[in-house]
Amino acid sequence: MTPSYISIAQATAAELQAPGCPAEPARPAAGCAARSGARPACERRCVDRRAALAAARRAVSALDGRDGPTLELVHAPGGAALPLLRSGGTPDFTLTLSHSRGRAVAAAAEKPARIGIDLERMGRITADHTRYFTDPEERAAGIDPTMLWALKEAAWKAVGLSSDTPFLALVLELRQGALTAVRVNGTRFEATSRVWSPWPGWTAALVELEPRATRAMRLEAASPRAGAAA
Ligand SMILES: CC(C)(COP(=O)(O)OP(=O)(O)OC[C@H]1O[C@@H](n2cnc3c(N)ncnc32)[C@H](O)[C@@H]1OP(=O)(O)O)[C@@H](O)C(=O)NCCC(=O)NCCS
Repeated sequence: MTPSYISIAQATAAELQAPGCPAEPARPAAGCAARSGARPACERRCVDRRAALAAARRAVSALDGRDGPTLELVHAPGGAALPLLRSGGTPDFTLTLSHSRGRAVAAAAEKPARIGIDLERMGRITADHTRYFTDPEERAAGIDPTMLWALKEAAWKAVGLSSDTPFLALVLELRQGALTAVRVNGTRFEATSRVWSPWPGWTAALVELEPRATRAMRLEAASPRAGAAA
């Protein structure tokens, strides 16, 4: 029987500190050193990319022996990272990722799963800011503002919206703190979510649209303390 789960992974401490910058075929290949004016931003992007690739490879590998280590990511500006396998062929999985300050989380699941993930520093969003990206129904759920933002961004990615669609176009239905559905542009999707803390001070959210009843979310912990799911 085909396994049915979403594999969620993060980069390990060693991967976060590894030297070098993964190739980025869709963007200019100039190294950070050569572009001294843009160096800090370039280096930040480089460490994020490294972390994202490491997390993505682990998430894909954990999908029962798929070809994770040969995974490459093609980054389309303003679009979802497109996964490629060096062995060729179209990947038979859906991949979603999020990165920030050199850390990254990724999730993979067999197609046609519709998943989205987000990573945020805890406390990044304050209660004063929630009205800019939520409606009263969402605020009434009483969820921590950063967690609400992470859920919203993960849902936005799961739907696959374009960058000109604001978060306000998306409404999360939350019952007792848990996501049950996502509404956007007149369409309603059943949904489930998982929120956890991959590192102290960080929160991550994963959203699946139209979830399969049999599906489990399997967290690939990079360290013993990384597995705390809420
Ligand atoms: C696209 C967006 C979600 C990226 O979020 P971010 O916090 O900057 O970055 P994250 O690390 O969480 O996610 C980036 C990854 O999301 C993925 N992604 C980008 N666009 C995507 C899309 N349309 N659908 C699914 N995934 C997408 C990519 O894999 C990307 O990785 P890359 O940058 O390495 O290519 C962000 O621009 C956004 O917030 N858009 C919604 C519009 C909006 O209303 N924003 C502000 C509300 S006040």
